[in-house]
Amino acid sequence: MTRMDRPVMIASGVRSPIGQSLLAQVGSNWEILALGREPVSGEGVAWMRADFRQPPETWRQGLSDWIGRRGKPVHALVHIAGTVYSAPFESTTADELQSTWGVNLAAALHLGQAVSPYFAHGGRVVLVGSVDARYASRDGSAAAYGAAKAGLEGLARHWAAEWGDRQVCVNVVAPGALDGGMGPADDVTAEHLRERIALGRLGRPSEAAAAIAFLLSPGAAYITGTTIAVDGGLNLTY
Ligand SMILES: NC(=O)c1ccc[n+]([C@@H]2O[C@H](COP(=O)([O-])OP(=O)(O)OC[C@H]3O[C@@H](n4cnc5c(N)ncnc54)[C@H](OP(=O)(O)O)[C@@H]3O)[C@@H](O)[C@H]2O)c1
Repeated sequence: MTRMDRPVMIASGVRSPIGQSLLAQVGSNWEILALGREPVSGEGVAWMRADFRQPPETWRQGLSDWIGRRGKPVHALVHIAGTVYSAPFESTTADELQSTWGVNLAAALHLGQAVSPYFAHGGRVVLVGSVDARYASRDGSAAAYGAAKAGLEGLARHWAAEWGDRQVCVNVVAPGALDGGMGPADDVTAEHLRERIALGRLGRPSEAAAAIAFLLSPGAAYITGTTIAVDGGLNLTY
């Protein structure tokens, strides 16, 4: 397939370990516009600067213009970008709250609004959430992050309902503790976590990326409005 024939994917967080693994797994099937603060390169990958802590006006029009210039529908929107501040809620600053919600949640809303007019019939949306939407970690409070990730799950259900008539499927992939990216900061924390994971190990970014790749595949055409946890069986015992 030449680059011109590939379906278009708009993606954030492509530089993260999950994003890089997704590129390695399915990148050659897509024409990708990667949004982020730092350049991303790769065959079939274009990059556009977007800092989701900044007002959406700084990047949204550029995104709409890029899609318009391509003259092709968008087949996938994948929001991987995220940021976390581990701090007791009382000491989380207003800036940290704004940044957490801006990058994890508000950016998804703005991406969805920008892409919606261009969605292909049967398009896919995958939002990367977290088990923190449901559980508070004993190894570091992150209420604002958990609330933002829970917001993505609500957003996915609403979008799935609103865009169902266009056969657009919208889902969340919620990783547990991964070995990479913003995963456990030290060995002691990692060991505590392993004790609470049925499979007894941290996840690999490639395993979260594999779930995203599946949700983008033809086989996932009847899955929408739900969350797939990729957590190795976290907190199954009490
Ligand atoms: N690793 C884990 O254990 C784990 C567990 C659960 C969920 N997750 C989720 O997985 C996703 C990827 O995280 P990761 O662990 O791989 O972390 P990471 O390596 O820190 O990657 C974070 C990504 O978010 C992007 N990002 C951060 N701030 C941004 C901003 N202001 N504007 C635009 N993009 C921004 C970064 O892009 P640029 O550098 O290009 O700006 C980067 O690609 C996140 O949504 C995270 O919440 C990770």
